Amino acid sequence: MAKTVGIGITGGIAAYKIADLVSRLKKDGHEVIVMMTAAATNFITPLTMKTLSGREVLTDLWNEAQGFNVQHIDVAEQLDLLVIAPATANFIAKMAHGLGDDLLSTVVLANTAPVLVVPSMNTNMFENRIVQNNIAILQDYGYHFLEPGSGHLACGTAGRGRLPEVQDILHRIEELLSPKQDLKNKRIMVNAGSTREDIDPVRFITNRSTGKMGYALAREALSRGAEVILVSGPSQLAVPVGVRFIPVRSAQEMCEEMLKYQADCDIIIGAAAVGDFRVARVAGQKIKKTEDKTRQVVLELVENPDILKELGKRKTEHMIMVGFAAETENVLENAKKKLLSKNLDLIVANDVTVEEAGFAADTNVVTLIDRAGSCRPLPKMSKDEVAAAIIDSVVALL
Ligand code: CTP
Repeated sequence: MAKTVGIGITGGIAAYKIADLVSRLKKDGHEVIVMMTAAATNFITPLTMKTLSGREVLTDLWNEAQGFNVQHIDVAEQLDLLVIAPATANFIAKMAHGLGDDLLSTVVLANTAPVLVVPSMNTNMFENRIVQNNIAILQDYGYHFLEPGSGHLACGTAGRGRLPEVQDILHRIEELLSPKQDLKNKRIMVNAGSTREDIDPVRFITNRSTGKMGYALAREALSRGAEVILVSGPSQLAVPVGVRFIPVRSAQEMCEEMLKYQADCDIIIGAAAVGDFRVARVAGQKIKKTEDKTRQVVLELVENPDILKELGKRKTEHMIMVGFAAETENVLENAKKKLLSKNLDLIVANDVTVEEAGFAADTNVVTLIDRAGSCRPLPKMSKDEVAAAIIDSVVALL
């Protein structure tokens, strides 16, 4: 079905590739409203975009000929999707901090449709922590991102920062224009992040998990219509808007909370890196150093409950349960054992020794294994894309 797509072009060299994108969206029958920042008009002319989109290109907040200054509200109301491509570091920063000082940034603020951001810039700029933090802020607000590609860049260097292929941008646009609602009327509980096991009032044992994978799963399930309970260990990530959020600290606490809600859930996904051990006797006071430098401080550890195993014992006939297997060797074999021992339907096998996979990374490399023995290795993907693939497999099992 024809939709209205806003294309916001900002000042990057990849702006010229957006001519092809606009042309192909038109061929697919969509209405396209092109907006350009002043910087973008240095890279490609509004006339090109006007000719391809078949309508006036909007560049100026204060241009009466373009309909004067409430135009940004009118435009925003018409959009089914807003795409910012290429998105420069500067424009990403403006969006992340709510600035509205030109036509496109005011449309972004007034817009209530989904937003797809397609960054493209020099590798060092893209990897700059400030830019990455701004991207993380926007992701927390629910903005969708397409990862830039790697290769030769216009600035003469090679690396991450290329605009993805127009075909890939089109594909993501179509996905966002017709979102799947295949988890409607389903309740899903996801656990995420690490747990903390106290040693004394100031120290604890934890692990490297940040919660990215579990939070991505919660966002994906929400966007596909599910009611989502997110049980999370301590995490720096923003809580996705719309989830029922249950913050916890220790593995035991996480287990108790999940057992409370299990019976009401259709799907349970264990993405948390649950601490397997806790300190047998937590010291009431801070453990002090002494003059005796030969003294050994020994922590006695006892095993925590295996949360998924406990939930697996109480699983009902139509409940789907998914776990992860963080492995450093014999990945598939160990994952299959965990699938059976925890009574799961699907396990996401994760070789945590692979670069850009596992804990704290933005990407992941996993294999999905189900009870019937099917084994689907996925290429390296963003954690959002892995989340979508996992939810697809869950839907297929429902
Ligand atoms: N898990 C759990 N409770 C635990 C440990 C793990 O629910 N106490 C869940 C994890 O959330 C994950 C799956 O079980 O979905 C596998 O976790 P993993 O750390 O890979 O394995 P373990 O079961 O802890 O086994 P091992 O440490 O021996 O590899």
